[in-house]
Amino acid sequence: MSKIKPITFDPTNAFVTPHGITQEQFDGIQNRLNACRSEMLDIDLSLWADGKNIPASKEPLDAGFHEMPERILDDYQADRDSSELGKILETAKRLGALVDKVVVLGIGGSYMGARALMETCCAPYHNELSRAQRGGRPRMYFEGNNVDNDWAQALLQFLESDSQGDGPEGNWGIIVISKSGGTLETAASLRIFMDALKSKVGEDQLSQFVVPVTGVSGKLADLATEIGCVDRYLVPDGVGGRFSVFSAVGLLPAAMLGIDVVKMLEAAAAMNAHFQTAELGSNVVMDYVAVNHLLEENKGVNIRVLSVWSKSLESAGFWYDQLLAESLGKHEKGAFPLTCLNSRDLHSRAQQHQEGARDKVMNNVIVDSWRTDPLAIGNSKWDQDQLNELADKTLPMIMDAAINGTNLAYKEDGRPTTDIHLPAADEAALGQLFQMLMLATVLEGRLLEINPYGQPGVEKYKKYMNQLLREDVTA
Ligand code: PA5
Repeated sequence: MSKIKPITFDPTNAFVTPHGITQEQFDGIQNRLNACRSEMLDIDLSLWADGKNIPASKEPLDAGFHEMPERILDDYQADRDSSELGKILETAKRLGALVDKVVVLGIGGSYMGARALMETCCAPYHNELSRAQRGGRPRMYFEGNNVDNDWAQALLQFLESDSQGDGPEGNWGIIVISKSGGTLETAASLRIFMDALKSKVGEDQLSQFVVPVTGVSGKLADLATEIGCVDRYLVPDGVGGRFSVFSAVGLLPAAMLGIDVVKMLEAAAAMNAHFQTAELGSNVVMDYVAVNHLLEENKGVNIRVLSVWSKSLESAGFWYDQLLAESLGKHEKGAFPLTCLNSRDLHSRAQQHQEGARDKVMNNVIVDSWRTDPLAIGNSKWDQDQLNELADKTLPMIMDAAINGTNLAYKEDGRPTTDIHLPAADEAALGQLFQMLMLATVLEGRLLEINPYGQPGVEKYKKYMNQLLREDVTA
């Protein structure tokens, strides 16, 4: 396993008086958290592996995500070609040679991880680069996550006008991801986009250009069989949608983009090892849960702001919004997650975060090194903006000042903050962060006695939406 530089969690600025937590409270939660960790490691994992005698209170038990990185890596190391990851890499190569644009159709947990991976690990303007600049990797577009007519039309028109001539530049393909295989937004989009693709490549070629990722059975699985898709992948049983980023759901789009998926999985496995062994006080998962939970329990802090300090991380924040909201937003409980992208959102939200209700904690996500050389403000003969005195200051220096200045301002007012540090915005950091936040969400669920798996509340709107459509009733 290559050496993974660890991500870190610094809760110092959550210990602020009188609105933060105390050391006594932090130390006092150790036994409860240890018990919840043991429940996850010693009970949930074996119950999940056995698949039998699962108590009703634990149903559904989608603990399959927990050791998925290790399972996938072990299989790959045992037999590169026939392993699932080996096949995913092969499909990425095959489809990537065939097309220059891939449309990923999926919603919720079936696309948010892939989008986060693209935005964190690829060049910021990946889709705008030439094929050569992209290293021969395709452009990627996300649809099927809405039913917005104008955006769907715009993508269809773009695909048609931009896919001319022979070779990959003249072709586009579809990766459709739906665990249930019946989600209406995705299914409707698949029909529409597949119809356009059929007109382009011909019905007999569709099987080469459409790659489904779905459950063993279901409507999409049946459709894939009927079309005869040459490649198809499973969303494994016992892995929930929002916990599925390390399955084909995230791995296939990531592999298409040339993201180092092995490194990402190794990083996630390293986070598992850390979670299992480190004690409270030096365990990023447990420390994060302890601080956030204690703030909620003792101070009524039920809004969790994930303040990401890099544009590359905004979608990772949205992925976490979904993870926390769908997992713990049950039984009239669960903190409210909110992603802010800074320094941008300091100009829209900082007023409220500084002086509004004391119901928020700011969990910063800070990238410690930028990919490219620092840009300096520079000298100018036009000094009307009076920036010559800052000529040597670079954008990373300004960002550091914004982060530290914001933390100081909140601290002065007794507003709790924490810092998650990522060594870089890359697959190693994101692999750890994804796994850290999934483990943290389940750990907190066990602490709150809320089953973090399943999303029964989401079914309600689906039922009524289908009813309204199929009965032809106008809402
Ligand atoms: O976390 C979840 O399970 C959900 O957000 C699902 O991912 C989402 O509802 C999409 O479901 P499906 O993959 O079945 O189309």
